[in-house]
Amino acid sequence: MSEIIKVVRSVRDLRKATSKWRQRGQSIALVPTMGALHAGHLALVKLARKKADKTVVSIFVNPTQFGPNEDLSRYPRDEAGDLEKLAAADADLVWAPGVEEMYPEGFSAGVRAGSAAKELEGEFRPFHFDGVATVCTKLFNQVTPDVAIFGEKDYQQLAVLRQVVRDLNMPLKIIGAPTKRDSDGLALSSRNAYLSEAEREIAPALNAVIAALAEDVANGADVVSGIANAKRKLAAAGFTKIDYVEVRDAETLAVPPDHDGRDLRVLAAAWLGKTRLIDNVAV
Ligand code: PAF
Repeated sequence: MSEIIKVVRSVRDLRKATSKWRQRGQSIALVPTMGALHAGHLALVKLARKKADKTVVSIFVNPTQFGPNEDLSRYPRDEAGDLEKLAAADADLVWAPGVEEMYPEGFSAGVRAGSAAKELEGEFRPFHFDGVATVCTKLFNQVTPDVAIFGEKDYQQLAVLRQVVRDLNMPLKIIGAPTKRDSDGLALSSRNAYLSEAEREIAPALNAVIAALAEDVANGADVVSGIANAKRKLAAAGFTKIDYVEVRDAETLAVPPDHDGRDLRVLAAAWLGKTRLIDNVAV
């Protein structure tokens, strides 16, 4: 028999549950998700359980972070499966509001993401990070977590949210967790479900190519020619369009000045047919 987990769908019920914990002096960790949970999400839940007394997982496919021609309508959804996984992972509560609860009629305020949002994903998805910053601010205000856990798979999202929390003095800590990968290196993502069998075979090349670039840069290779070479390799592997391959400052995501010893990150986004994959690795 499947295990049961408590699900709340209104801010009122959510506050009832969290205020009980607060009265007992218990701390709260939040794992924000859009559902269609995989082992990467469950690793975040495991980490959350170590970081606080209670773990809340939010499931909300946030319409405001999708562009008009993006995959909102076909984004994978499996609430029943998600609840089973979260019960087995020993999460304490699922916060699963509907769109009307999150954005009631008349909703019009928002949070503008800062400089970390400007390039990379920001260039190709212009309103995406404002949508992420707004919904995460709402989630933080609703759940009032002490810590919120995000995967490094969405590395720029993590940087954007760290900046929002720091710049707006939000009273919580953002924790990043390493990307979970399949055995062939492909980063786990709910969007991997879109890949055809043939595309799935090609997909791990994204990780292999950026990992090789990171190693070359660490060994002193020229960044500009390394990036050009990586793009050629991705095209040769079968990627149909390459949005970007970049080597950036690991914290600010700015273009780094030459050879000053700061931490760097390789970030990339590329298409396989109709599916856009992103990945990143440390240099
Ligand atoms: O990474 C995601 O799944 C989403 O961007 C998030 C953080 C849950 C906000 O909708």
